[in-house]
Amino acid sequence: MKFRTLRDLNLKNKKVLLRVDYNVPVSSGIVGDPLRIEASFDTIRYLLNRNCSIILISHLGRPEGKKVPALSLEPVAKKASMMLHHPITFIPECVGPKAEAAAADLKPGEIILLENTRFHKAEDDNDPVFAKQLASLAEVYVDDAFANIHRKHASIVGVTHFLDSAAGLLVEKEVKYVSGALLHPAKPRVAVVGGAKVSTKIGVLDNLIKHVDRLAIGGAMANTFLAEAGHEVGKSKQEPDLFGEVRRIRKDAKAFGVEIVLPEEGVVVSKSLEHGPGRFVHLNEVAKDDYIVDFGPKTVADIVHPLNFHGSIIWNGPLGITEVPEFAHGSRLLADNIIESGVACIIGGGETAAFVNEQGLHDEFSWVSTGGGASLALMSGSELPGLTALQKEGSKILASLGRS
Ligand code: 3PG
Repeated sequence: MKFRTLRDLNLKNKKVLLRVDYNVPVSSGIVGDPLRIEASFDTIRYLLNRNCSIILISHLGRPEGKKVPALSLEPVAKKASMMLHHPITFIPECVGPKAEAAAADLKPGEIILLENTRFHKAEDDNDPVFAKQLASLAEVYVDDAFANIHRKHASIVGVTHFLDSAAGLLVEKEVKYVSGALLHPAKPRVAVVGGAKVSTKIGVLDNLIKHVDRLAIGGAMANTFLAEAGHEVGKSKQEPDLFGEVRRIRKDAKAFGVEIVLPEEGVVVSKSLEHGPGRFVHLNEVAKDDYIVDFGPKTVADIVHPLNFHGSIIWNGPLGITEVPEFAHGSRLLADNIIESGVACIIGGGETAAFVNEQGLHDEFSWVSTGGGASLALMSGSELPGLTALQKEGSKILASLGRS
């Protein structure tokens, strides 16, 4: 899809409404993993270099239209300012007199961050009045919130009806890398899809089958595939109501000549999901009381070794329960093997991105997406409302309508 980028905008000395995704973990005012904040800096610097003033807007969490103090963006403004080495003033409203006054006073090179857009239900409703209020603060709009580009919200879609609009550098790169991995991958092409539920990833599996040579299934999703094939998975999470879908996916994979790779061994525990010690077993040895919590070296070897230092991998969803360090070994081993193999690897956001970041491996991969749901939507081939709103022709027409 062709969408407008920063190069399509006249930015010099402009007041820019910049939508970022600062939906980062915040606990008691302390910001956790700040990678999404850092990911916005290329666009911010690009705009500062063009003498722009910047009005940052973002959501944080899901306050459902209420003002929830724990979801204020104030600590995020402080953190972002520290990381960027540039003052970022927090404004405790995103629309209304305070926001209007702060935006009106902005001088070139100055940055403000407005309060959480989701404190207004109008944001989630893509309300045109709210969108117009946001848009009225600036002269142009830039969307760099890739992780939220699959949401039809006012600060993502609605505002583009009122301002000349384009994607920021992060959105451009995300789309280039994630869809590039699907459309122009080095061969052989492998996808690893893990995570809790087949039900949330059916669209991704369906689309990946059209683009890869091998599809490895990990996480609790693998239990459903294994159980459907008649294997004992004990008390592990599984979705028997999706066996029909699994059979269809297998059939489609066969029709496209795609090999489905399933684990043959793993780690099980018999008391509760959260605690070890785990036992390493072959699939035939899983007992009725066992929970499968991780997969092992043979699974990793089956995924990576056939590549023989060539090809490419898309990885979305950990192999085991990575929140429990004892059950994160399979995913760590997979990460290490991919890195050693030197093949291009795109990490599809969400839990997998959080895992590689936490393990200090972020820079070892070709691209680590900042979007969870958004990168899944992109990998599924679904429409992304935020990108549609920035489509070349459409965006221009809407912008001119908004100004008239
Ligand atoms: C994310 O964290 O994936 C994005 O910020 C989107 O958040 P949402 O799922 O609450 O819309």
